[in-house]
Amino acid sequence: MALKSTNPTTTKSWKKLQAHFDTISTTHLKELFENNSERAEELTIKWDDFYVDFSKNRITQETLDILIELANEVDLKDAISKYFKGDIINATEGRAVLHTALRAEENSEVFVDGENVMPEIYEVRQKIKTFTDAVVNGKHKGHTDKTITDIVNIGIGGSDLGPAMVVDSLQYYKNHLNTHFVSNVDGDHHKEIVKDLNPETTLFVIVSKTFTTQETLSNANSIRTWFLEHLPEDAVSKHFVAVSTNIESVKAFGIDENNIFPMKDWVGGRFSLWSAVGLSISLSLGYNNFESLLEGARKMDEHFKTTEFEKNIPVISALLTVWYNNFFNAESEAVIPYTQYLNQFATYLQQGIMESNGKYVDRSGNEVNYQTGTIIWGEPGTNSQHAFFQLIHQGTKLIPADFIGFIESLHGNKDHHDKLMSNYFAQTEALMNGKTKEEVLAEFEATNLSDLEKERLLPFKIFKGNKPTTSILIQKLTPESLGKLIALYEHKIFVQGIIWNIYSYDQFGVELGKQLAKTILNELTTCDNSVKHDSSTQNLIDFYKEKHK
Ligand code: F6P
Repeated sequence: MALKSTNPTTTKSWKKLQAHFDTISTTHLKELFENNSERAEELTIKWDDFYVDFSKNRITQETLDILIELANEVDLKDAISKYFKGDIINATEGRAVLHTALRAEENSEVFVDGENVMPEIYEVRQKIKTFTDAVVNGKHKGHTDKTITDIVNIGIGGSDLGPAMVVDSLQYYKNHLNTHFVSNVDGDHHKEIVKDLNPETTLFVIVSKTFTTQETLSNANSIRTWFLEHLPEDAVSKHFVAVSTNIESVKAFGIDENNIFPMKDWVGGRFSLWSAVGLSISLSLGYNNFESLLEGARKMDEHFKTTEFEKNIPVISALLTVWYNNFFNAESEAVIPYTQYLNQFATYLQQGIMESNGKYVDRSGNEVNYQTGTIIWGEPGTNSQHAFFQLIHQGTKLIPADFIGFIESLHGNKDHHDKLMSNYFAQTEALMNGKTKEEVLAEFEATNLSDLEKERLLPFKIFKGNKPTTSILIQKLTPESLGKLIALYEHKIFVQGIIWNIYSYDQFGVELGKQLAKTILNELTTCDNSVKHDSSTQNLIDFYKEKHK
C-alpha cells in the first residue's frame, strides 16, 4: 500500500505549532530550566546503553505534544508499519525500502511480491561469513599462494561511504587486514592507493548496486589493468569479487559468478551497508563484529517500531528537525561526535540525509510550500571547537547540533577522556547559557582594563546563548552501539520524509549532472563540438582543452 499524502501545513497541529512558536520563540533556554526543575529528567530518554538528553532544545512539553499531534495527523504509525512490512514506499522507483529486513531475525518474515525475503538474506549473510572467514584465516589465498593482506573497496556514494565510515569508526576492532577505499573517478585517487600495494596479496571488492556507475567502473577497469601488469588473467578470480544487483554486467566485467555477492533493488544505496555492500566491513572487522553491527541496528529498529512517540528517540529527533527547519527557519544541523573514531560520520550522514530529503516535490507531485531537507555538516569535537564553533556561538544563524559522546574510551586513557568529555559538556552548556553583560562585567573586574576599554569591548564579549543541542551519550563505541546510532539516523530520515510528505528513497536530482558529464566527456575526448553550451561552460571546456596536454 502507498504512503498517504498530506501537506503538513494544512494540518491543525501545524497551525497550532505556528501559534505556539510565536509564544515560545523568544524564550531563553535558561528560563525554561529555571521554570522547571524536572526539565532535564523529563526530556531525557534512557534506552539500552543510550542516554539522549533533548532538554537543551527550544521546546516545552507542549511543543512536543503538538509535534506528536502532527506525527499522528500525517499518520506516522501507518507509515512505519508500511516501511517495515515491505510496502512500495519508494513509489517513484516502484520499490519497497527494506534495509531493516537485512538485520531482522532469521525467523521473521518479510514479504516482497509475495515472497519471504528472509531466507535469501540469510543465504547471502552465510556467503559473506564463509568468505570472510576464509580470507581472515588465510585459507583464501591469492594467485601466487600468498595470503591476503589488503582489501580495496571500489565504489562510490552508498557503495563507499557506509563501509568506509564503519571501518574507520571501528578500527579499534579490526583484524590484520588493511582496508582501503577508492571512490573518486580522479585517477590520482586510485593510483595513490594501489601504488604501495602488492597485487599478489590484495583483494579488490567492486561494489556497485547498479554496476553502471562511471566512477566505479572506471576505477575497477583501471585497477584491473594495473593488476594484469603484474599477474595473469586467470589470477583475477582470486583477487576480484563484486557486490551488485546487476549479476549479468558483473559477469560481463569478467568476475566469476561464485565471486558475486548479490543484493536486492529494495536496498537503497545509502542504506546498504547492512547488505553485501558491507563485505569490506566484515572482512576488516571479522564476521562476528559485522553481525553485532546489524544486531545493534535491529535493536534500534525494535525501539523505533514499538516505542510510543513520546519516548521514541528517532521520532523525537526528527520532530525537532521539523521544529527548527520549518518554524525557526534553521537551514542546517551540525553533528559533532566527541570521538575521533567518528571522523567520517557527518560525511556519511550527508548522503543519507541530503540525498533522501533534498526534495521539492511532495508525494502528490506538487511543489512544496514549506522547507524540506536540512544541510548536515560536522566534524569531531574538540577539533571543530577550534574551527567553526565561533559561528555557532556568536554567528547570526541558528544551528541545532547533535553532540555524540561515549562514557568509556576504547584505550582507557582517563585523563584524555575526561578532558574530551568536559569539552562536550561545556560546549552544550555554553551554547545554551551564553554569557550575559553582567557576567562579562564581572570578568572585567579581575582585569586592569580602563572603563573606556571595558565599554568598548563589552558588546563583543557577550554571547546570547539559547543555541539548541541534543546530547547523545552512549556507554562505549562498539559494533553494536554504532549499529544503533546509524539506525537512529536512518529512522530519523524516514520520519522527516513522512512529515514533509516527500519521497525519501529516490535520488533523481543526481542524474542530470551525470548525463551532462557524458556529453562533455565526448567533447573533451573527440573533436565533436556540436553541442551548444552557455558561454561560461563553453569557455571552461575550451580553456581546459587548450591547456590540457
Ligand atoms: O549518487 C547517486 C547514487 O545513485 C547513490 O544513490 C548511490 O549510492 C551511488 O550513486 C552509487 O551507485 P551504485 O552503487 O549503483 O554504483
